[in-house]
Amino acid sequence: MNGEENVTITGCTGCNLRNLTAAFPLGKLCVITGKNGAGKSVFLQQTLYPALCRHFGKKCGTEGLPFETLTVNGGISDVVLIDQTPMGRSSSSNPATYLKIFDDIRTLFASLPDAKIRNMTARHFSFNLAGGRCEHCKGDGSMVIDMQFLPDQIVPCPECHGKRYRTEVLNILYRGKNIAEVLDMTVREAFLFFRGQNKLQQKLRQMFDAGLDYLRLGQNSATLSGGESQRLKLVSYLLQIRSSRSLILMDEPAAGLHFADAEQLLTCFRELIAAGHSLIAAEHNQKIIAAADYRLELPSADGSQ
Ligand SMILES: Nc1ncnc2c1ncn2[C@@H]1O[C@H](COP(=O)(O)OP(=O)(O)O)[C@@H](O)[C@H]1O
Ligand SMILES: [Mg+2]
Ligand SMILES: [Zn+2]
Repeated sequence: MNGEENVTITGCTGCNLRNLTAAFPLGKLCVITGKNGAGKSVFLQQTLYPALCRHFGKKCGTEGLPFETLTVNGGISDVVLIDQTPMGRSSSSNPATYLKIFDDIRTLFASLPDAKIRNMTARHFSFNLAGGRCEHCKGDGSMVIDMQFLPDQIVPCPECHGKRYRTEVLNILYRGKNIAEVLDMTVREAFLFFRGQNKLQQKLRQMFDAGLDYLRLGQNSATLSGGESQRLKLVSYLLQIRSSRSLILMDEPAAGLHFADAEQLLTCFRELIAAGHSLIAAEHNQKIIAAADYRLELPSADGSQ
């Protein structure tokens, strides 16, 4: 293929795929289009992804549907499938913990003189661990009250009033704010607040670029929409070491996204590509399709286009 880097798969026959052969250029945004039922998901999730997992010696939990050959011509070293499923359901997962921003914030609080003279470490600034968290609600900030014949009631913890921490911890202030107040900041507010903290600001800027500036650092992950979860996963990917180049597969990443959100998603895509990654997405969204460098149209199940 005239020296161009690509991934080529031949002879895919799973479900309604009729001996499909495809060659995707690397370092580009490739889009797979086709009507519902054309086999986009069967191809992407059940054929190409398992085939690449096997190629890279990676577990993916499924056998995969049949194909003839897979060739990787180029320097990619990993494959990932990014979906819209939530990243964590526990009350301890939020954007700050997911992107490890919270580690930097806790280290910063522990480095303050007031924290040091009280022997407080980064551990004390976690709402998950015994030591700094409110023991009454175990750091949840709320309590479930059994109402016997009525549905359970969720009320703010009477000890910490929803702040999740012990008073001693809340008394430690950085630039006039305690750790609970920092968790309550939006990405936009936190970006301005942490001026001079380059590592932190870099991570927050990446969230900005993905259109997630309005999220609160401590917002429970279970409350994020599918599109928000997915963009947070992409941000996490962008923040990882850039020395390894990956092939990122996505099944209808723009599904359910507002027009402006699709624009932000494209910004993420461009950044991933600029960082050396490659993207293949099954997609209906016209905006994403129009921006693609390469398109593959799957024929409909009934043979029409
Ligand atoms: N695991 C499966 N077993 C059997 N048939 C399947 C399976 N997954 C999908 N199909 C069928 O394969 C066809 C293609 O489905 P799909 O790949 O989901 O289409 P698309 O993603 O393009 O809308 C459909 O007719 C679907 O019912
Ligand atoms: Mg599908
Ligand atoms: Zn409490």
